[in-house]
Amino acid sequence: MTMDGAMLEAILENVEQMIRVVPEAAPFLPDWPVGDERRVCPPTRLEVCDWLDRLAPPEKTAGLVAALVAAAPMLQWRQTYAAADFGADFLKRYGWTEFIGLRGPVPSPNLACGVLLLAPGLTYPSHAHQAEELYLPLSGVAEWKMGDADFAQVEPGQVIHHAPWVPHAMRCGSDPMAALYLWRGGDLAAKSVILG
Ligand SMILES: [Fe+2]
Repeated sequence: MTMDGAMLEAILENVEQMIRVVPEAAPFLPDWPVGDERRVCPPTRLEVCDWLDRLAPPEKTAGLVAALVAAAPMLQWRQTYAAADFGADFLKRYGWTEFIGLRGPVPSPNLACGVLLLAPGLTYPSHAHQAEELYLPLSGVAEWKMGDADFAQVEPGQVIHHAPWVPHAMRCGSDPMAALYLWRGGDLAAKSVILG
């Protein structure tokens, strides 16, 4: 199955609507791609995709999550890490799909945007990267940690901003967690530096 263009456009429309009303996303908007160029990205599947059906988003993010779940079998699901980084179990519970960027269906050299999907019970250890990052959790309450602060619960609708090279970590509870991410600056395809 290849990507249905209408499904991708539905995702992009939902994403753009969402980030245009988030003040923290303003610095990312000048790099929002405007062209209609699209890349063919053959679909891939990861074990973490089993959890897509268990996402239970609040109303404000339900439209985007529904578009994501509908398109999921046609999306390219990827991982940045290998078993040597965080262990084999991590790879069963983690994955992301890029909509915009160096690899996703919408080409952009300056901005990356996609969804990170984490399964219940996953701990994503501390890591850092050059890109400035914005996360908009879409579904699932998880604990997030930034810098030296303690882990704090973050709900869908809250916004997480990571300045370049700020260490961050996540911890899932009993819910799967899906979060929209935006990256800008630095190498948009770089693997994070693992810290903990
Ligand atoms: Fe990050």
